[in-house]
Amino acid sequence: MSSDAESNYQQAYEQSLNDPDTFWAAAAEELHWTKPWDSVLDTSVMPHGQWFKGGEINTCYNALDRHVEAGRGDQLALIYDSPVTGNRVIKLTYAELRDATAKCAGVLAANGVKKGDRVIIYMPMIPETAIAMLACARIGAIHSVVFGGFASNELAVRIDDAKPDVIVTASCGIEVNRVIPYMPLLNDAIDIAEFKPCKVLVVQREQCPAELQAGRDIDWLTAITDADAVDCVPLEATDPLYILYTSGTTGLPKGVVRDNGGHAVGLNWTMNTIYGMEAGDVYWAASDVGWVVGHSYIVYAPLIKGCTTILYEGKPVGTPDAGAFWRVIAEHGVKAMFTAPTAFRAIKKEDPDGALLAKYDLSKFETLFLAGERTDPDTLAWAEEKLKVPVIDHWWQTETGWSIAANHKGYGFLPIKPGSPTKAAPGWDLQVLDDQCNQMPAGEVGALCTKLPMPPGSLLTLWNAHDRFTESYMAEFPGFYKTADAGYIDADEYVFVMSRTDDIINVAGHRLSTGAMEEVLASHSDVAECAVIGVADQLKGQLPVGFLVLKSGVDRTDEDIVAEVVQLVRSQIGPVAAFKQAAVIERLPKTRSGKILRGTMQKIADNEEYRMPATIDDPAILDEIDLALQSLGLASAR
Ligand code: COA
Ligand code: AMP
Repeated sequence: MSSDAESNYQQAYEQSLNDPDTFWAAAAEELHWTKPWDSVLDTSVMPHGQWFKGGEINTCYNALDRHVEAGRGDQLALIYDSPVTGNRVIKLTYAELRDATAKCAGVLAANGVKKGDRVIIYMPMIPETAIAMLACARIGAIHSVVFGGFASNELAVRIDDAKPDVIVTASCGIEVNRVIPYMPLLNDAIDIAEFKPCKVLVVQREQCPAELQAGRDIDWLTAITDADAVDCVPLEATDPLYILYTSGTTGLPKGVVRDNGGHAVGLNWTMNTIYGMEAGDVYWAASDVGWVVGHSYIVYAPLIKGCTTILYEGKPVGTPDAGAFWRVIAEHGVKAMFTAPTAFRAIKKEDPDGALLAKYDLSKFETLFLAGERTDPDTLAWAEEKLKVPVIDHWWQTETGWSIAANHKGYGFLPIKPGSPTKAAPGWDLQVLDDQCNQMPAGEVGALCTKLPMPPGSLLTLWNAHDRFTESYMAEFPGFYKTADAGYIDADEYVFVMSRTDDIINVAGHRLSTGAMEEVLASHSDVAECAVIGVADQLKGQLPVGFLVLKSGVDRTDEDIVAEVVQLVRSQIGPVAAFKQAAVIERLPKTRSGKILRGTMQKIADNEEYRMPATIDDPAILDEIDLALQSLGLASAR
């Protein structure tokens, strides 16, 4: 933490904004291009510009073949560590991963998949998931990974939007206490969806093999064994690499589209600058490939950089205990780890003194990175004290693909301010704006927005919804990308992210829309009106809580109806929504114009001070909300 760090950062940050072409061209030179770009940033493509237009690149080539050809074929590329399958460990070198990927690409190609076609990947955390993603990238197919914790309905929505020719899946996922057969979920999704994919490639797992449908399903192992290896095809830098659906403000998720060129350049640059990694180092993002963290930092960034990445099929606790993370770090020589603060809260709850740490040698471990939600100062202090390494909060979103604000190991760490992800990363002209698009003074809360264009690696558009893309992100603050996070920047330029400005809540680092949950509750035949809010939770950060107003004349018990809506959310959205609590009330608090006062309800639930909304229809309803929350064991201190 020196003034060198400050000047390194400042110099890079200023150059990235004043001369983005030189800054990002230098980063792009590290990669292999089959054709150089015509322009680094083409600003004629409004509103956000396009990176490396005219250039040709293949992401899979840069992630695998390039390293093999440079003589590092025997280096480990991927370590699969799976405590849920009895501590199974599989290690693949760069040569092995390239060969498996080339064969998987062969299977896809033999089944008619070509450049621009979509492939949905509905998979647990197994090596075949990364192989399928890279195989798509190899032949220019656009993958869309769907998180295994989503239910059939969510999968069906994604099938209808992406229209995949092929779906890649596995026979089951494995949670701590149960095996989840995927085929029934997938079959239901295909039944619900209007679009019917032609083929399903299935990885059979011994824990629960699936019955395959003749004519539609293909056994992964047989197909790969018989397949021809297929080479990388050159792609336009601006061709889509993947679609990743994320929660929006309606039940219809947003299909974030990422390009090939900008994405590879941005991610490769972050590996050293933010995470301090060199080729050959071991890097571990303990997330799931179904989320953006998994896309960027389990699969693409570490492999493009030439690191060894870890794919961990387990949890921070319960597989088998709260020492699981320390075991993985010690066993595989992890240099930097990335996870969500909620994982550390789970560990701290089970092993508050960190006693299990004593069993492991963490001498190679240098830095812990946290994101997905704000790192609360307690968790930060605990992790720093127990691990005795820098603990770095950094802030980003599915849309941005990598950090908007971070503390950069490559420049030297700046002093940490608890509660802040430090300063805006190079490429991000981050500003705090008021409703009129004016910059707010230091320390005052407003909308966190970044001036366009965004740096390489951020989203290109939304799949099938370019108007929604410009409307959602660029309309409210012309010339800016709206992050939909509120916060402030202090006098030292440290960023503080306080809350979302939309209906998104953050449950165990997972991004969920309360609006989508409300749509499910409203579909129950006894429910007249409803609201869902995110209530603070010590472990998961936030938990959803529902309020139901029943139709008149309904004479069933509240308990029955609550149990049914809980089940409905689980079956429509998925267990990952963690929707387990709801209360039946007489009326919802509203403004005179009929707007539901969700913000006030949330403040009551979290025991926060709130001002009585001037436009409230009937203030007495808030007491009813308070009582309903108390009946759920919430708002108890009031
Ligand atoms: N397939 C099927 N079900 C899944 C699933 C998957 N891939 N992932 C989670 N679920 C289920 C869980 O089993 C759980 O079901 P339950 O209601 O029957 O218990 C439910 O979805 C909620 O899961 P989760 O929120 O993960 O809660 P948890 O209690 O199982 O674990 C943590 C809590 C904190 C340990 C866990 O969320 C965690 O490790 N999070 C941090 C890392 C992370 O993934 N961050 C994401 C972005 S970086
Ligand atoms: P996702 O798109 O799932 O990555 O979720 C992005 C959202 O998570 C952001 O808009 C923030 O609300 C929240 N988030 C992620 N990282 C952080 C962080 N380090 N600090 C505060 N909020 C964060």
